[in-house]
Amino acid sequence: MRVMIIGDVVGQPGCDFLRKRLPAFKREKKVDAVICNGENSAIGNGILPQSANFLFDSGVDVITGGNHSFKRREIQDYIEEHPDLIRPANYPPGVYGNGWYRLDLGNASILVINVLGQAFMDPMDDPFRTCDRIISEVKADFVIVDFHAEATGEKMALGYYLCGKASAGVGTHTHVQTADEQIIDGKTGYISDLGMTGPIRSILGTLPEDIVRKMTTHLPTRFNVPDGPCKMEGVILDLDKKTGNCTKIERFQLR
Ligand SMILES: [Fe+2]
Ligand SMILES: [Fe+2]
Repeated sequence: MRVMIIGDVVGQPGCDFLRKRLPAFKREKKVDAVICNGENSAIGNGILPQSANFLFDSGVDVITGGNHSFKRREIQDYIEEHPDLIRPANYPPGVYGNGWYRLDLGNASILVINVLGQAFMDPMDDPFRTCDRIISEVKADFVIVDFHAEATGEKMALGYYLCGKASAGVGTHTHVQTADEQIIDGKTGYISDLGMTGPIRSILGTLPEDIVRKMTTHLPTRFNVPDGPCKMEGVILDLDKKTGNCTKIERFQLR
């Protein structure tokens, strides 16, 4: 089983680049399923029904979210009707949508879980025990966790915590791909951050001049996503059905 996981898709340039490159890349890599973080896929940030549909139509099977999952109100009804778009599972109880999705591929199933970190983020329930609870309740051949968090130490702690319980734990949110892909103790695939899908000349997907203006003036600044050449970043996992473990993790950056 080969699974591709793609880092945060930013704005229309990120969506367009993914649509242009994903179909052929999927064929080339012989991938069985694609998971993608879409919390910044809408024009103006967040995720909208249009941007979610665009990612699904481009070949994505499961979309994960993060701290921007509910930035746009229009997604509230959509997420209730589309269980393959998930938001962090450690949001308070009763929030729209679901924090996990079981992708059934016929010959195998993948439980995808999305959780938010606690360091430098809004207060949320414990991501570690949230994962435990879902893994014990939902049976699947493989478990993949998108850990949407700021701090690499916290992400690595969850990676080790999930070792032997999940097939892979991958970090999102910081939009800068890390070079620490590994298989923890020969069991669980791990990377601190998948990276980003969006404009290369940008700061985390935003026009650099907007960020610099904000940081040097502290004035309210509208963040724009620039046009220009894009990249798509993420990992491809080989998963073993007998053990549920990850046997190979390949980091990629497509330009
Ligand atoms: Fe993001
Ligand atoms: Fe985020």
